[in-house]
Amino acid sequence: MSEHIHQLSAHGVLTLRMQRPDKKNALTRAMYQALAEALKQADEDREVRAIVLSGSDVCFTSGNDLNDFLLAPPSGLNSEVFAFMQALFELRKPVVAAVCGAAVGIGTTLLLHCDLVYVSRDAQLKMPFVNLGLCPEYGSSLILPRLLGHAKASELLLLGQSFSGEQAAAWGIANEALADGAATLAKAHEMALRFTRLAPSAVIDSKRLMRAPGREELRRVIEEEGALFGQRLRSPEAIEALTAFMQRREPDFSRF
Ligand code: COA
Repeated sequence: MSEHIHQLSAHGVLTLRMQRPDKKNALTRAMYQALAEALKQADEDREVRAIVLSGSDVCFTSGNDLNDFLLAPPSGLNSEVFAFMQALFELRKPVVAAVCGAAVGIGTTLLLHCDLVYVSRDAQLKMPFVNLGLCPEYGSSLILPRLLGHAKASELLLLGQSFSGEQAAAWGIANEALADGAATLAKAHEMALRFTRLAPSAVIDSKRLMRAPGREELRRVIEEEGALFGQRLRSPEAIEALTAFMQRREPDFSRF
């Protein structure tokens, strides 16, 4: 349970909303744990046919809480964040993401494991792992070069370049870019409701087939990224970057 994860189940759709507006929906360990438990329960609950994952109509999430990264860095495969991403990765039922405003770090990575993604045109997506002295996570180093080609993926993962909702849709990271936050949330719910009218096992079987090719390789990459990410979090480069964020200054990597 987390006060910052709002759950609403209606008409066969479970909506999980990240709700920590004062910190731009930065994800804490308790929030990951609540999300992981909710996903696992939803997968077993006959009443739930689809899941919507959203933030507010102005902010998806600013990613992992950077205070947590600095003071209580997650330790690999036993961490709450890994449990959440694992639950998303293993989810049998369809999940629809609604992305408005900022989607930083894991906020963008997790979209690669959703089935449908709707974004507001002016959403700002970003995976600034290198900028934080870190490395890509949860399969993005495999999925993004395949989806976008090596050159574009390098801009996003090696430079941490941000991109808009409109670009995310054009590149195939999202299904559609919508005019604003309200339209984005409404579209995601409308599409999730469509699943409730379909044969549930047929949807589950079809998702499994679509995700099966290359799954073992993806699992191996996720583990390798996870181990490296855990090491990098404790590196002097990451500590400088995280401390700089807290001190509201640019990091100085000149001494490394
Ligand atoms: N972890 C912890 N706190 C965060 C946070 C994060 N990931 N992102 C934002 N916050 C906090 C800020 O410190 C600030 O707190 P304060 O009001 O107590 O000072 C508050 O949320 C508002 O953030 P602010 O930066 O003022 O909002 P903004 O609208 O100008 O910018 C972002 C929004 C998301 C672009 C910006 O906050 C940001 O870049 N955050 C860091 C994202 C990040 O690097 N995530 C990790 C990726 S691995």
